[in-house]
Amino acid sequence: MKTISLHTKNTTYQIGISEYGYLLHLYYGPKIECDMSYILQYFDRGFSGNPYEAGEDRTVSPDLLPMEYPCYGNGDFRSPAVNVRNKQGVYGLDLKYKSHRFLEGKYGIPGLPAVYADKKEAQTLEIVLEDAAFEVKALLKYGVLPDLDVITRSVVIQNKGSEEVFIGKACSFSLDFVSGEFDLLHFYGRHAMERNLERIPVIHGNQSFGSRRGASSHQHNPFFLLAGKNTSEEAGACYGMSFLYSGNFRFEVEKDQIHQTRVQMGVLDEMFDYALAPGEKYYAPEVALAFSADGLTGISHIFHKLIRHHVCRGKYKTARRPVLLNNWEATYMNFDGEKILAIAEQAAKLGVEMLALDDGWFGNRDCDAQGLGDWHVNEAKLGGPLSEIADKINAMGMKFGLWIEPEMVNEDSRLYQKHPEWAYVIPGRKPARCRNQLVLDFSKKEVVDYIFDSISRVIDSAHVEYIKMDMNRSICDVYTAVEGYQNYGKIMYEYVLGVYDFLERLNRRYPDILIEGCSGGGGRFDAGMLYYTPQIWCSDDTDAIERIRIQHGTSFGYPISAVGSHVSASPNHQTGRRTEIHTRAVVAMAGSFGYELDLNLLTDEEKGAVKKQIQDYKRYWNLIQNGAYYRLHNPDEDKEVAAWCFVSEDQSEALLNIVSLTVHANAPVSYVKCRGLDPKKRYCCEENGRVYDGNALLYMGVPVETVPGEYHAWQMHFVETIQPATAHLLRSQQPAV
Ligand code: GLA
Repeated sequence: MKTISLHTKNTTYQIGISEYGYLLHLYYGPKIECDMSYILQYFDRGFSGNPYEAGEDRTVSPDLLPMEYPCYGNGDFRSPAVNVRNKQGVYGLDLKYKSHRFLEGKYGIPGLPAVYADKKEAQTLEIVLEDAAFEVKALLKYGVLPDLDVITRSVVIQNKGSEEVFIGKACSFSLDFVSGEFDLLHFYGRHAMERNLERIPVIHGNQSFGSRRGASSHQHNPFFLLAGKNTSEEAGACYGMSFLYSGNFRFEVEKDQIHQTRVQMGVLDEMFDYALAPGEKYYAPEVALAFSADGLTGISHIFHKLIRHHVCRGKYKTARRPVLLNNWEATYMNFDGEKILAIAEQAAKLGVEMLALDDGWFGNRDCDAQGLGDWHVNEAKLGGPLSEIADKINAMGMKFGLWIEPEMVNEDSRLYQKHPEWAYVIPGRKPARCRNQLVLDFSKKEVVDYIFDSISRVIDSAHVEYIKMDMNRSICDVYTAVEGYQNYGKIMYEYVLGVYDFLERLNRRYPDILIEGCSGGGGRFDAGMLYYTPQIWCSDDTDAIERIRIQHGTSFGYPISAVGSHVSASPNHQTGRRTEIHTRAVVAMAGSFGYELDLNLLTDEEKGAVKKQIQDYKRYWNLIQNGAYYRLHNPDEDKEVAAWCFVSEDQSEALLNIVSLTVHANAPVSYVKCRGLDPKKRYCCEENGRVYDGNALLYMGVPVETVPGEYHAWQMHFVETIQPATAHLLRSQQPAV
């Protein structure tokens, strides 16, 4: 059998071309050099269709073979990757191999985010498949990044015929495994509690996850892991799959009648009926795939590097982000210019580097029922033009930034009065309101143009160095009255393209502005958004203890630099929980660090702590953002303490973070073991002056102090030393941690 192999440093992906022209998936896993077509087994199995060309041979069936891009309607009755109908309503495709070629460099996708790399760092494989009856061509694209062990996939569907056809489903990838028992790790959640890890067995039948909310959603993140039954944090086989797309999606895993497993992901096939006129193309968004034999940590490290260096772009991609203060939880919409300046003044004194002015600065926006869509500065509220407040903040030595929510409109706004037809409302039906707002039809260029122009007029009017781009409701009532619009089966996809177009324009026009993504916190936290915004507000839940869980789940697929995380007030506004300011800072430092409270309301002692935290963050940021991140606990299993650490690439330095989660009388002692250190090195802990053997920190760990009260936090900075180990000193000689 003719085979095509893709090799990375440690993995191989192999495809075969069958005698009947089917494209088969032969292998994906640790690196191999041999022809894997021997895995194919042929049996006559009842009710599994056979290709006509096979004649009497009933052992060949696409229902049983591992298919590289399975079609609906050719005898494969498992979940299809692609389904097309023609104008007469006839469904199905039978895609056969035509040709393939290798190209230097990594492909891009028009209008969509994609992994990028230098020409020398990546290759592209293109495989052409064709269906003779419908004259439909599928161009399968593979990007290979050998050093990172990443393979990306994307598909272009083209109508080569003379009549319109309709795509009902077009996955970005499909992967068949002929054997293996797997667990699926997925990340579910809700507003203010995103990306909770759940590990479930892959069962017979079809398990499906996704979003029909218009955004990738708080409820299911488009990042999944498929792991062996024994795969742990430290070891074992694991596949990661990250969708570079921020809208409706579906991820499916199916275990079939002979225990084979199929996984696939793509744009959601509901509300999707994509009309392709003759010659037209549909671009399926990209999925990044990786395999690691080094367990969940191994796969996370691959995705951290991939997103940080080959997805995020712009000036702030790898740079330290300014320590910011966001006024949202300090004032909500109840502020004026004076109040903001008073907050800024205190922030500047303590070392904060940027003031982000959140919701409420524009139109008549004093509550969430009004003003969205009216992107002109409320000068009466601010006490002058935006430039004045920005200049004053600059004069304090801080940068200035702004919140926007371009995709939305309130009925109580000038924009809605002028253009009610721009909002999604189905004629004759009252629309579902959500946070009192409606969604603008971003699938239409004129709507994006108008909003972009009005927002850029504001940005141009002042020295703006940061934008927080929000999106605060899910989408329904999809209808547009804009002239000439025909095909509603495209609209949810084109909406996302409109959002990307807006963001691309923002990036191009303002290359020096740091853009932070947001959707009610982390409701659109995906690799697609990270192509345009190098960080995303991780959650509207700023409670340090809840954040530990949210940030733990987020860390599986996304780097620390992508996680917007702030110290907020105590008691916390979402939970009412009280925590020390030190604990809040330790948790927020596992991200792009900032504050979200009125620092004037702190005690002098707390203000001193804030000053020190900012200095510490500046000292540690390189280790935090560029070091390797290790999860040291699982919030579902470890109820006593949470812990994580950052280790520099050369293993000469580490920052261990510990938070106590409970308190007991006469408590047993918890020990936290580090990971990622060199067992042969010795490390001095800056906080207690002790010198530890690396292997002691790895295999025994450090005891956690038993002190009264819960939610205490410790940061231990270990630096390589040649001094002899002192951690064996007598108890009476040891200083406290
Ligand atoms: C969303 C964001 C918050 C804040 C508000 C403003 O909920 O996640 O951080 O910006 O909107 O309305």
